[in-house]
Amino acid sequence: MQRTKIKVEPPGEKAKKIVEDTQRYLSPSIQRFYPFVIKKGKGAIIEDVDGNKYIDMNAGIAVLGLGTAPDPVIKAVERQIRKFIHYSYTDFYYENIVTLAKELIKITPGSFEKKVYYGNSGAEAVEAAIKLVRYYTKRPRLLAFIGSFHGRTMGALSLTASKPAQVRGFSPLLPGVEHVPYPYCYRCPFKLTYPNCNLYCVDYIKENLFQKYVPPDEVAAAFIEPIQGEGGYVVPPDDYFKKFFNLMKENGIIVVDDEVQAGMGRTGKWFAIEHYGVEPDVILIAKALASGLPLSAVVSRAELMSWPPGSHASTFGGNPVATEAAIATINTIRKMKLLENAEKVGKYMLKRLDEIKEKHEIVGDVRGKGLMIGAEIVKNKETKEPNPDGAKKIIEYSWKHGVLLITAGISTLRFAPPLTITEDLVSEALDIVEKGIMEAEKE
Ligand SMILES: Cc1ncc(COP(=O)(O)O)c(C=O)c1O
Repeated sequence: MQRTKIKVEPPGEKAKKIVEDTQRYLSPSIQRFYPFVIKKGKGAIIEDVDGNKYIDMNAGIAVLGLGTAPDPVIKAVERQIRKFIHYSYTDFYYENIVTLAKELIKITPGSFEKKVYYGNSGAEAVEAAIKLVRYYTKRPRLLAFIGSFHGRTMGALSLTASKPAQVRGFSPLLPGVEHVPYPYCYRCPFKLTYPNCNLYCVDYIKENLFQKYVPPDEVAAAFIEPIQGEGGYVVPPDDYFKKFFNLMKENGIIVVDDEVQAGMGRTGKWFAIEHYGVEPDVILIAKALASGLPLSAVVSRAELMSWPPGSHASTFGGNPVATEAAIATINTIRKMKLLENAEKVGKYMLKRLDEIKEKHEIVGDVRGKGLMIGAEIVKNKETKEPNPDGAKKIIEYSWKHGVLLITAGISTLRFAPPLTITEDLVSEALDIVEKGIMEAEKE
């Protein structure tokens, strides 16, 4: 049975009007991919305001792990909303933030003692972590990766390095941030080939930064994405982080693992860094944590949380309704075995996309873990020249034919469906995406 249904060519009349009004009344700083306007959704099926039905490959950009409007979260939110919606944790106490903290401590890697700080967004978690590591180490500098995305507030933006438009016009940013090349093997910045490179990208940090102009004893922390998200769904090789973590450890540098996009089961494990057999000192969680309600968490080695009372907080951080949603999200991931589903359906999806890659000249690279998968669109396989026009055509074709899909990086199709998705739905969606690839290839 076909689940997509396009009744009127999108954007329909209702969508056009809302887009027009959005342009008139809202900030133009937001860049959207195409004029899709949601009315409602359930699971991995989304309906637009003109009655068209789509398969969701976005999950509200890696937020809706349980899909749209999941019943367990609705029930938990309803229950909490009747008790109290807010009673600032900056000044008072309530119980469910402790319950959630215990859960987060359990599901994050590392059996050492941990403590949790709550904010509202990914960027807020990053800001908190910057303050935390500076306070604890008394060191001023930070490391981050080229291609990374850590948010848009001034501190987080200083770490972000994935698109010029994100930073243009906003300088000066935070001083003391150094960016190093990410292990992006399909486009190795050093033009080397894995594994013969012996992970030179880690040696580079030692030889060119630490031995030349960045005294490592001045570096408080390195911010990593275990899989680069906005940068193009870039997956490091299996042994990369062991070597990277060792270099950081040798120099007393804290590793902050930004799992805002890759965490909460998306890659088939609670946190993507678990694929690499290393334990970060600090983990940042947001997006899928509360299934779409604003909530973020900084889960840190307990001893790093040496900052004193009054040094950091946020009015809405740890909002009790969002916190209930997060507890329900964790319970549902366990109950529905969604880590297993993400791994199983993710493998199927990777296999299908690999087959598509073999057939089509403009699909240069397919990579991913669990349900975090990228397919890089190029002009041709030999030159690997990025093909943003081709990628744009594919996502527009997909949308017009019933699949919601966007890109990451310069020209990578970004597959991040709900963790609840079935192989059947993925199959139907990929049939449509492949037709889009064929259309783009004609040109
Ligand atoms: C890895 C990562 N970190 C941080 C952020 C920022 O999160 P937010 O948009 O909630 O501030 C994002 C958002 O996409 C992200 O992908």
